[in-house]
Amino acid sequence: MPRWRRVLRASLVASVLAALAVPVIGWLREPPRIEPPFERIVGEGAGPVKELGLKDLQGRTHTAADWAGRPAVVLFVLAPDCPGSRQAAPEMARLARDFAPRGIVFFGVCPAPRETAEAVAARASEWALPFPILLDPAQQVIRQAGVRVTPEAVVLLPDGQVLYRGRVDDRSASEGPRRPAPRPRRSDLEAALVAILAEEMPVVTQTRAFGTPLPASTRGDLDETITFNKHVAPILYRNCARCHRPGEVGPFPLLTYRDALKRADFIREVTAAGQMPPWKAHPGAGVFLDAPRLSAWEKDILARWAETGCEQGDPADLPPPPRFADGWALGQPDLVLTMPEPYVVPATGWDTYRAFALPLPTDRDLTITGVEFRPGNRRVVHHSRVHVDETGDARRRERADPIPGFSGFYGDRLVELPYPGLGAWTPGLTPRFAPEGTGRVLRRGSEVVLNIHYHPTGKSEADQSSVGLYFARKPLTRKMAGYTLCTTKIDIPPGEKRYTVILASRVKADVHLHTVVPHAHHLCREFRLAATLPDGTCQPLLWIHDWNLDWQDQYRFAKPVRLPEGTLLTLAAYFDNSEDNPRNPNKPPRRVRYGVTSDEEMCACHLELLPDDPSGYAAYPNKSPFGL
Ligand code: HEC
Repeated sequence: MPRWRRVLRASLVASVLAALAVPVIGWLREPPRIEPPFERIVGEGAGPVKELGLKDLQGRTHTAADWAGRPAVVLFVLAPDCPGSRQAAPEMARLARDFAPRGIVFFGVCPAPRETAEAVAARASEWALPFPILLDPAQQVIRQAGVRVTPEAVVLLPDGQVLYRGRVDDRSASEGPRRPAPRPRRSDLEAALVAILAEEMPVVTQTRAFGTPLPASTRGDLDETITFNKHVAPILYRNCARCHRPGEVGPFPLLTYRDALKRADFIREVTAAGQMPPWKAHPGAGVFLDAPRLSAWEKDILARWAETGCEQGDPADLPPPPRFADGWALGQPDLVLTMPEPYVVPATGWDTYRAFALPLPTDRDLTITGVEFRPGNRRVVHHSRVHVDETGDARRRERADPIPGFSGFYGDRLVELPYPGLGAWTPGLTPRFAPEGTGRVLRRGSEVVLNIHYHPTGKSEADQSSVGLYFARKPLTRKMAGYTLCTTKIDIPPGEKRYTVILASRVKADVHLHTVVPHAHHLCREFRLAATLPDGTCQPLLWIHDWNLDWQDQYRFAKPVRLPEGTLLTLAAYFDNSEDNPRNPNKPPRRVRYGVTSDEEMCACHLELLPDDPSGYAAYPNKSPFGL
């Protein structure tokens, strides 16, 4: 990517965050010098579990479609000859009896390939297990979830994301034949289920289970020839095609056999390295919505296809090509605002940030709970932000500019328009309604402002984008609040390999954390955010250990994270200002200080919080530029 484009992209977010930086609330006078202890979660990432079709003892296949709308699915991985499974069986049965009536789905999963269905059924009835047992002799499903022993438990969301994996409770706390404690001190699985039913992220999402290592699996599809039509195409359609198709951001399409054949090795490399699909958050810290991660099984298929001659396979196996919705993802909007005339993006030249003020065509205030941006021409629209301006400034600027729209920046300092935000669109970002009871009032007479980032394509292109607004059906009862952890105290000597910035803030009211938006520039290598709860538990929230400014994202938690008053939020960011950092913009390295352009550095993390009680809003007023 050309450097000027990076500079622009960096400064876009930088200026927004810089605008938020003062005044900052909740600083600790003496921030504790603690770095979130993330080393222990290296390599412990679990899931997602994408291929769920397993047969039960009667031969019936259970798939994820059966669970749509359920709060969660629990898999108990157990084996008939495993003493730990026998010991855990009464507790598994109890949890199933307690939680199944509240909608959670329970299965046993037997990973032992040599056990017959009859033997497993006999054990299940001897142990009085009140749930069906699925057979996973090839261990495809449980390995995707990161399971390593029996007994072990996995809690999945219906989309395959793993919200908990590990022990049932802490009665067996070590290897070997030690007698388990009579009563658990920590019931980690139960705590996770209670949290999920309360629509919250479990505090503990991974624990170590002790038990019997998994038996050798059958080869499963290892004996099959991996073909494009049967195995590879579904993976590319599901995970890659939304960006790698004509008119989207990927540099080439990945839709046909020929597309994939040309790049089979390249695909294997970038997927094995976790470089594609682009997603920077470490799976061991934080579970996020729309995380486009491949399962271990998917990576394995892509690698084996490249290594075994890239067969095309039987045309009858090829699934229908993916269809991408042209319509509104949130349904028909109550009000659609469209740019009154097309804006023509020149064939070549710099990226353009162009803003368009769309007046609200009504003489009353509107209460909205959803906003969906719809690009008019995906070939040129790179991303867009949606704002609201109540001051008339956008209207004046629009009128003063002779061609449609006006500059998306103020002056030549590359400071983005300061209007409050309603949402953002990037390719692949799924629009969502605001959390229950929240939303935004748009005052009559105000303008909805689209600030669109256009990429020239080499051909002159016209765009006429729209935004759909969704009205609240019920009165708003709560307000989303915003808070930014950030500092201007950055001064990195040349050659410094691990310059550390630590920021800490005490949570001042009971809140739920919905979204985090980390930000730093090219010298940053690693980013950690954690919460230390009042009881001392450290909950990792986000870990990016290969920070890349080009792939910065908003991270929306799969379930909001409960942060009680008194929780300590700690952010640690690490910067490499040596020549070994391939992204160092300065060769040779020079001293780098705080600044909003991308050859300077920043360290910030914006948090979107929902106070549990309206009084908490006083501690966290909404300065959010990112969403409803
Ligand atoms: C969110 C959009 C997105 C998704 C999803 C995505 N890609 Fe990409 N991909 C890109 C972009 C953008 C580039 C160009 C990278 C750059 O310029 O740094 C790229 C580049 C690549 C490259 C070339 C890498 C390089 O170093 O030049 C390969 C190979 C690739 N993607 C494969 C895949 C595969 C396989 C998948 C699915 C498993 C996938 N991508 C999913 C957006 C995406």
